[in-house]
Amino acid sequence: MLADVIAIRLERLRPDHAEALLSFERQNRAYFARSVPDRGDAYFEHFCDRHRALLAEQDAGACHFHLVMSDDGTLLGRVNLVDAERGEAELGYRIGEQAAGRGVATAAVLEVCRLAAAGYGLSALTAVATLDNPASTAVLRRTGFTPVGELVINGRPGVRYRRRTTG
Ligand SMILES: CC(C)(COP(=O)(O)OP(=O)(O)OC[C@H]1O[C@@H](n2cnc3c(N)ncnc32)[C@H](O)[C@@H]1OP(=O)(O)O)[C@@H](O)C(=O)NCCC(=O)NCCS
Repeated sequence: MLADVIAIRLERLRPDHAEALLSFERQNRAYFARSVPDRGDAYFEHFCDRHRALLAEQDAGACHFHLVMSDDGTLLGRVNLVDAERGEAELGYRIGEQAAGRGVATAAVLEVCRLAAAGYGLSALTAVATLDNPASTAVLRRTGFTPVGELVINGRPGVRYRRRTTG
């Protein structure tokens, strides 16, 4: 890694995050669309409705959403646990272009694994990455995820990964 690593902290998703999150998604829309499917115009047009829906899912215990923040309060990315059931959940993450390649995803995934075990009662996490997304694959492998199967995501071949959050 050439650039300095950025120190991060996670904030659990709150109602007052909506404005900053919408701005983050708008700024990085084209960047994210290079490696994952674009969210589509409707996502941006109905962002507030969607934000409320995510918070309701979180209140119900099905999901745990987090903003990845720098020490100075800049929103760098998101790391989420969805479909929490029977002690397992699916991990997803995205880090904005301005912070790319500085260890932010790696640190955020390690922190959410710790939270999953210590705060959310989750003993294992799963994640998927397409073969054409080497940065995401690097993040999963270096944070202790191991391949458990192959799949196709939106027409692209990929790998499913799994990691236990506790010893
Ligand atoms: C994938 C993503 C989360 C990585 O975030 P990040 O903060 O840049 O990740 P990190 O800095 O922690 O680690 C990335 C690693 O991948 C490596 N990497 C980046 N591009 C790579 C490439 N083309 N080939 C191989 N490795 C690559 C980096 O070099 C880095 O490893 P290093 O620290 O040893 O140099 C970010 O690019 C992103 O949000 N992409 C769009 C959304 C997405 O793909 N989400 C994941 C869906 S599965």
